[in-house]
Amino acid sequence: MKIISVVGARPNFMKIAPLIRAIEKYNTQIKIKTQNQAKNSENLNLNLNLNLNLNHLLVHTGQHYDYEMSQIFFQDLDLPQPDIHLGVGSGTHAEQTGKVMVEFEKVLFQEKPDLVIVVGDVNSTLAAALAAVKLHIPVAHIEAGLRCYDWAMPEEINRLLTDHISDYLFTTSEYDDDNLKREGISGEKIFCVGNIMVDSLLFNKPMAEKSDILERLGLVTNHQSPIPPHVIAVSRSCEPKAWQEAWQSESESESESQSQSQPVTPYALLTLHRASNVDNEQSLTRIMAAVNQVAQRIPIVFPAHPRTQKKLKEFNLHLDLTPQSKSQSQSNVLIIPPLGYLDFLNLEMNSRFVITDSGGIQVETTVLGIPCLTMLDSPVWPITHKQGTNILVGSDSRKLTNEAFKILNSNSNSKSESKIELWDGKTAERIVEVIKTQSQSKSES
Ligand code: UD1
Ligand code: UDP
Repeated sequence: MKIISVVGARPNFMKIAPLIRAIEKYNTQIKIKTQNQAKNSENLNLNLNLNLNLNHLLVHTGQHYDYEMSQIFFQDLDLPQPDIHLGVGSGTHAEQTGKVMVEFEKVLFQEKPDLVIVVGDVNSTLAAALAAVKLHIPVAHIEAGLRCYDWAMPEEINRLLTDHISDYLFTTSEYDDDNLKREGISGEKIFCVGNIMVDSLLFNKPMAEKSDILERLGLVTNHQSPIPPHVIAVSRSCEPKAWQEAWQSESESESESQSQSQPVTPYALLTLHRASNVDNEQSLTRIMAAVNQVAQRIPIVFPAHPRTQKKLKEFNLHLDLTPQSKSQSQSNVLIIPPLGYLDFLNLEMNSRFVITDSGGIQVETTVLGIPCLTMLDSPVWPITHKQGTNILVGSDSRKLTNEAFKILNSNSNSKSESKIELWDGKTAERIVEVIKTQSQSKSES
């Protein structure tokens, strides 16, 4: 069976890496079985076993292309290099979706796969699924059934359309199953397998714990490492020394990280990239004002997505985060480029709390038990609110500061890791099992 998986944007890589590992594990098992049977000269079964092999190709659309948005994840996640790169790049929605369709269709004509696997909800996901389904190639969608019912979000359009044209819908929880069934999708296509991002998180956590990102950012007390040269801006003064001294004097009596032997300066972690939050000047200014208020109580590390970096500069906000008065001058926001997966996970695990509008980070903070304040108006991961640490603050900057201050006032550093059914690190293996069973039953019928 020939399978093509498609990646394009940052959140795709951590969803495909576990799948590739599970496919390799399955193929190894088939190989061993075949070798054993050859030894026992059960020749009749040899061809059958070879047919069971999953021949996998990885296609990268090129939607994300900066080193920090793409290549670094191949290293961190030990992903094989893509077999085919479409080199599509940035553009308007129609340009990007259209280019992926045109280029991916050529690959489909050439390779004639039996199955195309897409993940998540980015433009590359919908484009690849559309190109495949029009050529009558079955499509499997990993992370199917997520809904926020906000049509202003391009991701919602991508999710709904991809789900309705896919043959296999791999969901993360019963909430997703219910969404799909409500839309009239047959239960036979739905497979609740758990959350594949959690596979990546649990697999890579021990490696992430070894990252030295805290030292590199000067977040380890008494560690004399300089601020890294790639810092984009330190809000208050742009003086690395001041940033470090302010943090370290504040944190002398503060907590000790669970994974580091040296005391870690308490900090919050911020990511922002949704068009609805960052593309509009008023909205980004309001958010950054609230962030700066929070930063007066706790330093904030902000690995900024390229879209957001551009907008911060365009609206002249990257250095305009000064506290309102000298007496509040402990406030700091450290804006740095996007980080690799292992460094970012380390920062997430050791943070006091996270502020984000990312989808994947809501999942990771729930599993890690780190409080998460989500700057989106409609919930896409209800389970992380009901069973996890996720609080929806939307675009309400007062709610953001109130919730952040509640966390800071609580004085509790204890983590409440959530155990959600099927978010156990074995989702990719369950997906491979379904694909194998389905392909066997098709070839028998
Ligand atoms: C995309 C996804 C979003 C996902 C996010 C993950 C869509 C519609 N959106 O948003 O769902 O949460 O990825 O990060 O698919 N850019 C660079 N270098 C890069 C990539 C992008 O400079 O490597 C800049 C370009 O100016 C580009 C802009 O970022 O125009 C936006 O990139 P794009 O892929 O269109 O959307 P994202 O905001 O990244
Ligand atoms: N991430 C990362 N480096 C960063 C920011 C995020 O490795 O600087 C990881 C994060 O741990 C998560 C994924 O990227 O696994 C989330 O991607 P993103 O927020 O870009 O997209 P979304 O999930 O919102 O679609």
